[in-house]
Amino acid sequence: MEMNLQNIYEKIDKKLQAECLRLGDCIPYIPENGIYQTDMKTENNAYWTNGFWAGMLWQMYHSSKNDLYRQTALFSQPPLEQAMSEFERLHHDVGFQFLHTFVANYRLTGNARARAWGLHAANFLAGRFNAAGKFIRAWNQDMTGWMIIDCLMNIPLLYWASQETDDPRFAYAANEHAHTALKQLLRGDGSCNHIAVLDPVTGEGLEYPAGQGYASGSSWSRGQAWAVYGFALAALHTGKKEYLDAAKQVAHYFIANVCRTGYIALVDFRSPSEKIYWDTTASACAACGLLQIAQLVPELEKPMYYNSAVEMLTALEEKYCDWNPDTDGILQYGTVAYEREGLVHVPIIYGDYFFVEGILRLMGKDFLIW
Ligand code: GLY
Repeated sequence: MEMNLQNIYEKIDKKLQAECLRLGDCIPYIPENGIYQTDMKTENNAYWTNGFWAGMLWQMYHSSKNDLYRQTALFSQPPLEQAMSEFERLHHDVGFQFLHTFVANYRLTGNARARAWGLHAANFLAGRFNAAGKFIRAWNQDMTGWMIIDCLMNIPLLYWASQETDDPRFAYAANEHAHTALKQLLRGDGSCNHIAVLDPVTGEGLEYPAGQGYASGSSWSRGQAWAVYGFALAALHTGKKEYLDAAKQVAHYFIANVCRTGYIALVDFRSPSEKIYWDTTASACAACGLLQIAQLVPELEKPMYYNSAVEMLTALEEKYCDWNPDTDGILQYGTVAYEREGLVHVPIIYGDYFFVEGILRLMGKDFLIW
């Protein structure tokens, strides 16, 4: 297991500098024919992935101090300010959006305005807390009782806000949500539901639809990755053993599945074997979660988590990275959802984010964005 991390870092740096110059103030999502052609700022300024580009650039600014990264990351802020003032299209994903932009900016530069926007987003997220069911509701429209595994990655915005303001209300909502996720989304064998529909008045669990995976009762790999990393982050922010145990439980399940397929995740660990679809974004996110777990467990337990993360990042680098600076998107073979037409086996901005975070974590050059 040999990774030349410095060499990979130099390739990331070269490619991302080229992308910054090509993109200017555009916000990328998925390249078409190797080039980012759609600017999410105008396509959909409230889209859930609109923070990852800036998050990756803040990570690179932190590690390199190259001001091109800081200047380009700042372009992602005004469209999110606009989305927040428009209000209605934002939902539980404000954590992904605002942690990677305004809060990252504040953490690295101390910018007071960026801090205020981060707190504004935390208030928005806390306002989605359902006190009867003790969960943060997902999406909008009539999905009043829906909670999803993805949201574990948004609650670090609440932990940050409590720490920043010395006000426990935000962390209270985050902990209640994480606890409900343990009960409603985590299954006994370490796999997870993507969605739980609860009665929004009583909090009673009603049904568990398929979501982005193959079917109800299956096992959407990116959802499992959200659980590995999300529970690990809840453990990091609270010190609670129940969250660390949950993160470890899902991690064991994830590792048992990917070690059968060369450390690359299928889109769904429980999908028909005659149709094989991969999702490299799930492997990259899970690798970051495993590295987080490795930092939280006693010394003797570390190697399994750490080495599995290295196996995953090595497999991704060897098989699925495009290092050509003239094309956009590093990590190939990401998948948005099982059999979602046109969105299977493509580079996706969050795949690049988690791959870069994973490499920087291995080098000790990352900063905690969550
Ligand atoms: N719903 C967020 C995701 O695609 O993972």
